[in-house]
Formats: sequence, C-alpha cells, structure tokens
Amino acid sequence: AKNPVRVLVTGAAGQIGYALVPMIARGVMLGSDQPVILHLLDIPPAAESLNGVKMELVDAAFPLLKGVVATTDVVEACTGVNIAVMVGGFPRKEGMERKDVMSKNVSIYKSQAFALEKHAAANCKVLVVANPANTNALILKEFAPSIPEKNISCLTRLDHNRALGQISERLNVQVSDVKNVIIWGNHSSSQYPDVNHATVTTPAGEKPVRELVADDAWLNSEFIATVQQRGAAIIKARKLSSALSAASAACDHIRDWVLGTPEGIWVSMGVYSDGSYNVPAGLIYSFPVTTQNGEWKIVQGLGIDEFSRKKLDLTAEELSEEKALAYSCLT
Ligand code: NAI
Repeated sequence: AKNPVRVLVTGAAGQIGYALVPMIARGVMLGSDQPVILHLLDIPPAAESLNGVKMELVDAAFPLLKGVVATTDVVEACTGVNIAVMVGGFPRKEGMERKDVMSKNVSIYKSQAFALEKHAAANCKVLVVANPANTNALILKEFAPSIPEKNISCLTRLDHNRALGQISERLNVQVSDVKNVIIWGNHSSSQYPDVNHATVTTPAGEKPVRELVADDAWLNSEFIATVQQRGAAIIKARKLSSALSAASAACDHIRDWVLGTPEGIWVSMGVYSDGSYNVPAGLIYSFPVTTQNGEWKIVQGLGIDEFSRKKLDLTAEELSEEKALAYSCLT
C-alpha cells in the first residue's frame, strides 16, 4: 500500500475548505488509491467550527483518510506536509482600502511562508487559492526562499474551467470535448481568457473553437467578460462566493500537477514567470502549462495576435502594480 500523503488546507473552516476537504479525503485530488492525512489550519475565532469539520470527517468514515490534524498553530499545521493548499486569507470588507487588505494578506503569507519553509516536507508543492492569489503566492515565494519557485503556484484553474464551461454551453457540446483554452495573467477581472488555440473534439475530428463558434464578436467581448465576471455573478446568485467550483478546481490543479496532464492537453496555472511570452519575469502569472513527473512547463511557441498581446500586457501591468503595493506593505 502507498504511504499517506500529508495535505495542508489553510482556512479549512471556511466555505471552500468545507467543500474541499471531503474531495481530498475521497481521492479526488490525488487518486482513489492514495491514502491521505489532512492538516487543517484556521485561526482561533474559527477553532470550534474547525473542530466541527474534523468531527464530520470522522463521521464520514473515508477509507483513504488516515488521520486529521486540526489546529490553529501554524507550525503544527505545516509540519511534514507534502502539499499545501492555502485557502485562508483576509477578505476585503466594505469600506476597506485595497492597501489595508493587501497589508493583512502580506503579513499572513509572510508568516505562513516561514512556517512552510522550516517545517514542510522536502519538495512540498504549494497552491495559493486565497485572494489576491497571484500576489499572495509571490509573497510566499519571497519569504520561503528555500522552497524552489517551481513548487509555488496559484489557482487560475477555476477560470480555465469556467472558460471550458462557457464554450461547451455555447456550442452545446460536452465540456470534456473542449480543450486548450488559456487563462493568462491575474486571477482577477483583468485576466485574459483566450480561445485562439482551443479545440473541440467532434465526430468530424478536432475543430478550432473559433471556427465552430463562428462569432468573433461574441468570443472577443461577451465570452471574455462572462469568464472575467463569473465570480461576481456567482456572488450575486448565491450571496456567497464560489466554493464547490473553487474546491473542484483546486483538486484539478494539484491532480494534474502531481499525476501529469494527458497528451495534447494543457491547463492554466499561476506560476513564476521566466519571461515567456514577454511577460515580465518575477510575477506569478497564469500561463498554459503541461505537466510531467510532478513538474510543470510553460507551453511555448503559441501565436499571440495583437488583440491578445494587449490583453496579456494589461493583466501583467495590474500584477506589477499589485506587486508594488504588496512590497510597500512590507516596510
Ligand atoms: P471564507 O471566508 O469562507 O473562509 C476563509 C477562512 O480562512 C476562514 O475560515 C478564516 O477564518 C480563515 N483564515 C483567515 N485568516 C487565516 C489565517 N491567517 N490562517 C488560516 N486561516 C485563516 O472564504 P472562502 O469563500 O472559503 O474563500 C477563501 C479564499 O479563496 C478567499 O480569499 C477568496 O477570495 C478566495 N477564492 C479564490 C478563488 C480562485 O479561483 N483563486 C476562487 C474563489 C475564492
């Protein structure tokens, strides 16, 4: 039998946490033959509720779940973890300035970076979900210099999946037949959902999404806006932000990262830019990636037209500004 993998979920008493931990315990993230030990972290005001989540995990009697560490102690939470899914953060509240929210999250991610660096298992893979996701991941990378930058990522897979979903609805095809959309840039409304390389498997073979949709006006405006604004639309409908889709996307992200992407398919991940596609190096930016043996690689050589170039640059600019704001909070 395989040794259990230790998976940390921070913010585990929150909405996404509640949807995510049963998925991990059922093998959705790491496979149905991979035992897991869950490490759940939240802050003291949520300790009782966190314990309730732990009780439900016991009650669910998941065969793959070999243990639960539920704690408000960052060091205990981070010790020995192989995978860290960082969902905990400080939400923007009414009347708060952007800088105040950033400042709270910078200090959270700085201290969690220290704890992961010191106490996580070697080669721990980190996924940041909490917003501002790209910039929180960047802060984590800065303050955990011994964790290789290739091991630190942020979640844009939800946006990627949303784009697949919109194309499948529009064309009335199965979502599993749509592939290779791209989310470029920030997990924010400046992201660029790009279908220029996306295809659909049809009875007549692989067809470009652009050819099948045959409506550039829709693809270049409404489609993009719908994906960019989907988070807000969910809040409006549910009075709560996306949780089950975010949890599912986090599982997709880690599963593909660890187990590899299928031949011919890429996914979107927020990763440390090496300057590919003239995206400034040193930002955590969402790119198309393929993965193999636990490592991601940015897909190279895709054509970027003028329309796309502007959108790639715009979201990079926003990330550079966020980075500057985050750094201004450090002093
Ligand atoms: P939530 O407010 O229900 O849960 C957040 C949890 O984090 C709370 O239980 C809170 O006590 C905890 N927390 C706060 N500070 C913490 C700290 N220092 N250490 C550990 N835990 C801490 O929020 P929800 O809906 O679960 O969302 C979580 C985050 O994910 C938010 O930042 C949200 O904006 C973000 N998000 C990101 C998405 C993405 O695609 N990247 C999609 C949806 C949400």
